[in-house]
Amino acid sequence: MTVTRLCYRSTLDFSKMTLSLDDEIDRLLAYARANNSRQGITGALLLAGSTFFQILEGADVDVRETFARIRADDRHKDLVIIDERSDSERLMPGEWLFFTDTMDAYDGVLASLFLPIANTPDLVGYDDLVSVMMFSATRVHRGFETRDVMRA
Ligand SMILES: Cc1cc2nc3c(=O)[nH]c(=O)nc-3n(C[C@H](O)[C@H](O)[C@H](O)COP(=O)(O)O)c2cc1C
Repeated sequence: MTVTRLCYRSTLDFSKMTLSLDDEIDRLLAYARANNSRQGITGALLLAGSTFFQILEGADVDVRETFARIRADDRHKDLVIIDERSDSERLMPGEWLFFTDTMDAYDGVLASLFLPIANTPDLVGYDDLVSVMMFSATRVHRGFETRDVMRA
């Protein structure tokens, strides 16, 4: 199977949001996950300050259709495509839209990975993005979540 993987960054537009940031994100994730699971799109969304990073992967036609809708969403602006490529398999199978926020990294290892992304978002490349997304998704699935780390 061939998958298309597209990565972009954009800037959050607070002026277009009607709810608190947390509520906007919760609503967005619920909608996007339902939609992505129907359409076979997997990937991840990272919020670093006011910058969104997203990885979308799936059949080429589905990635393009989803990306066109996302691009037209006025809750973000100044969208820049970081990378677009074909691969033989998905990096994030079964992950309809993993979400993480650099502010939530109380775990030291993750915090050090997030730091350059939050500080210089325009320098983030494909490898940086994929490695940080995959690493944080793995940590979350293994139970290294904020609360557990803080309790430990
Ligand atoms: C940063 C960001 C990421 C998004 N990611 C997705 C996504 O992965 N899948 C999706 O269906 N919608 C996603 N959306 C929502 C779409 O942009 C759009 O609001 C939604 O598809 C509704 O479109 P419609 O009103 O034409 O149905 C995202 C929006 C933003 C701002």
